[in-house]
Amino acid sequence: MGDEPVPRQGSDGLCVGLDVGTSGVKAVLVAPNGRVLASAVEEYPLLTPKPGWTEQRPEDWWAASRKVLKALAAKAPGRIEAIGLTGQMHGAVFLDAAGEPIRPALLWNDQRTAAECAEIEQRVGAERLRRITGNPALTGFQAPKILWLRNHEPEAYARLRHVLLPKDFIRFCLTGRFATDASDAAGTLLLDLAARDWSPEILEALDIPADWLPTVHEGPSITGKVSAQGAAASGLPEGLPVAAGGGDNAAAAVGSGVVTEGSGLVSLGTSGVVFVATDRPTVDPEGRLHAFCHAVPGRYHLMGVILAAGGSLRWYRDNLARVSTDQGDDAYDQIFARAAEVEPGADDLFYLPYLAGERTPHMDPFARGAFAGLTLAHDDRHMARALIEGVSFALKDSLVLVEQLGAAPEWLYAVGGGARSDLWRRWLAAILGVGLKRLEAEEGPALGAALLGAIGAGVHRDVDAAVSAAVRAKGGLEQPDPDLLERYRPLHDRFTRLYPALKSTGIWHGGQS
Ligand code: XUL
Repeated sequence: MGDEPVPRQGSDGLCVGLDVGTSGVKAVLVAPNGRVLASAVEEYPLLTPKPGWTEQRPEDWWAASRKVLKALAAKAPGRIEAIGLTGQMHGAVFLDAAGEPIRPALLWNDQRTAAECAEIEQRVGAERLRRITGNPALTGFQAPKILWLRNHEPEAYARLRHVLLPKDFIRFCLTGRFATDASDAAGTLLLDLAARDWSPEILEALDIPADWLPTVHEGPSITGKVSAQGAAASGLPEGLPVAAGGGDNAAAAVGSGVVTEGSGLVSLGTSGVVFVATDRPTVDPEGRLHAFCHAVPGRYHLMGVILAAGGSLRWYRDNLARVSTDQGDDAYDQIFARAAEVEPGADDLFYLPYLAGERTPHMDPFARGAFAGLTLAHDDRHMARALIEGVSFALKDSLVLVEQLGAAPEWLYAVGGGARSDLWRRWLAAILGVGLKRLEAEEGPALGAALLGAIGAGVHRDVDAAVSAAVRAKGGLEQPDPDLLERYRPLHDRFTRLYPALKSTGIWHGGQS
C-alpha cells in the first residue's frame, strides 16, 4: 500500500486532528502527552431536501476546515509534525474528472436507498455480501448511494470519476491525493473485511470501476503531504504529512484508548454508538451490529449504531421542551432537571427513538419514533425522562447483541456530548448494567485523529504507545446503582416489545405491515 514511515526530526511532536462532523468541523492541536493545546470549531448547514434525505456540501466542509486549520496553525507554539483526519462515516462525495463536487454529498443518516440496498443484495447475494464485507446492505452505507446516483441522476452519474468519504475529500483538498483508511472504507460495503482492501468481486457485481475509489491505508499511515495549494488555503505548512486517520467512531476509540479486545465505549452524540474492539473480524450472523476494521492496524471492531441519540434530545429541545434560555441557562440542563423530577420509567411512558429510521437492531429505514402510553397525568417531565430512557434502552439493545457474541467488555467509556451529563450517565449505567468511565480529554474523534497523525510522524511508536502516553481516565468507574438497575431491568424488556408491535400495524409503511 506504499505506506512509508516518516522519520522524526526532533521537535515538539505537535499534531493536528481534524474531525469533519455532521454539525460542524473541529480541529485540535495535541501535544505528545495528549494535552489539547488549542481547538477550533466551525459549523455548517445540514440540507434535508426531502423527508429521509440528508446532504451536505463538500465545499462547506472545506471552507470550514480552512478556517479552523488557519486558526490552529496560527496558535501552534512549535512545529506541527502531522495532521490526522476523521469524520462522519459512510457519506458519498461525488467528484468529476477535475475533482469538483458534482452535487451535495449524501450522508450517513440518509434513508433514500432502500431499493438500492435490495439491488445490492440481489446482485452480490446477501450471504456472499455478509461473508466478504461482514455486513448487510444498509441504507446509510456508501455503496447504495452510488447506485442511487446511477438510478436517479444519470446525468450526474455520467460525470462521476471519483467517490470519496467525507474526511477524504478534505485530504484531497489538502494533498491532491485520493486515499482513505480501512475503518472508514469498511463502512462503504465495498471492502473485503479480512483483506482490508476493496473487494474486486463486489465492485464487479455492482459495476463500480475500481479506479473511482481511493487507495486504502491503515489509520496511522501517511497518505500524502500538504501541497503548496493546500498550504496556502489552510495555513498548514507545505509538506506536512497527512495520516490516513479513521472513521469518527474508530478515531474516537483510539482517542479513548479503546484499542484492544475487551475494551469498549458508548458514545452519546447525534447518533448513539456501542463500540467494542476485537482482535479479528467478528461478525453478527444477522448483521445487526456493524463489523468494521479498526483504525488500529490489523484490528477490528463491532458497533451498534442508533441514529437519533443526542439527535432525539435536540429534536425535543427544539420542538417540545419547556425551557427558557433567557438567562443564559443551558436548555439540556433544564431538560434533565425536569426529567429527574419523575420516577424511573416515567409512569409507564415509553419513547422509541427512531426519528430517522433505525440501524441497530432493527435495520429498518421506515421505523419511526413514538411516545407510547401517554395519559392525562403525563407532562413534559415524563416526556423528557421517557425520551432519555428510550435512547438508553435502544443502546442497551446494541449491548445485548454484543453480549450474545461474547464480546462485551466489563465496563465502557462514556464519550460524546451527552456523556457530560451526570444524570444521563447514572441512568445509562443502570440501563446498560455496566459501569461507565469518563475521559480527561473529551475531544473525541479529533484527538484520536491527532494521535494517528502522531504515530504516522513517528512521535509515538504505535497505537498502544500513543494511548499509554496520551489517554487518561477522569475519576473512577461509575458502577450502576443497584436499585435503579433492578427498576430498569423489566422496563427494557417492555421497551423491546414496542417496536415489533407497532411495525406489525403497518402504519410506517403507508399501511403495509
Ligand atoms: C456510524 C455512523 C455514525 C456516523 C456519525 O456507523 O453512521 O456514527 O459516523 O458521524
